[in-house]
Amino acid sequence: MSADLVIKNLHVSVEGQEILKGLDLEINKGEVHAIMGPNGSGKSTLANTLMGHPAYEVTEGEIWFKGQNIVKLSPDQRSRLGLFLAFQYPSTIPGVSAASFLRTAVNARRGQLDASGNGNRKGESISMREFRQLLKEKMAMLKMESSFAGRYVNDGFSGGEKKRMEILQMAMLQPEIAILDETDSGLDIDALRIVSEGVNQLLSPNLGVLVITHYQRILNYIKPEYIHILVNGRIVMSGGPELALKLEETGYDWVKEAVAGG
Ligand SMILES: Nc1ncnc2c1ncn2[C@@H]1O[C@H](COP(=O)(O)OP(=O)(O)OP(=O)(O)O)[C@@H](O)[C@H]1O
Ligand SMILES: [Mg+2]
Repeated sequence: MSADLVIKNLHVSVEGQEILKGLDLEINKGEVHAIMGPNGSGKSTLANTLMGHPAYEVTEGEIWFKGQNIVKLSPDQRSRLGLFLAFQYPSTIPGVSAASFLRTAVNARRGQLDASGNGNRKGESISMREFRQLLKEKMAMLKMESSFAGRYVNDGFSGGEKKRMEILQMAMLQPEIAILDETDSGLDIDALRIVSEGVNQLLSPNLGVLVITHYQRILNYIKPEYIHILVNGRIVMSGGPELALKLEETGYDWVKEAVAGG
């Protein structure tokens, strides 16, 4: 049996420059993985590539999700299959309320594929009543004020509120594999705990999580079983939680030396 998400020998170029240089990684539902690595090593490039961002060109290698090579699928199709990315820098959508944005997102995710084979969906939308109920439940779980739903997406949100909005979106979409790109950055201690607790409540045998982070701190709350170190476009080391602690103490120099030496 192969893993739910299998990344094989992934090479990715951005504007003609190769950033990922043969990356391998496997994630199953029910598992929590963390990727750590120096600035510019390619962590967000991996996240954006997994979601199908058009600026990231896969020049070699494969990405298998639930038994299907998804390299050619659109971001929308990937989301419908059950992939989710919480962005490092969430964008603002002026004039669209959080509630209406989330309802559109939930409908896009839920819509069944039609028979055309080109990834179009037939309408099958969540009822307003069911949506409100779900939203209320998830916002309570994340300890969010109800007024939040009426605000425009990320417009005037603090850094912490933007990250909470990302986790709320994840809670609403119920993905099978979620990638959290530096969800901890910009959060104060309380917000970090609340967001982490929110993620932990979402954990189940039906959800795999990939946490991208620079700091051990978030890993005190969201506890990964697997830590991977990404340096210069490749996973150069994998291990258990002890690896994150060692990095926090000693930085990346020893990793780079070990890689250069081996
Ligand atoms: N859209 C883009 N356009 C141009 N260059 C890009 C783009 N995305 C990534 N890069 C380049 O790819 C390299 C890796 O960037 P990436 O954002 O993946 O690093 P990262 O590991 O996420 O770093 P950080 O820890 O700072 O978030 C960098 O040199 C970056 O400038
Ligand atoms: Mg990044």
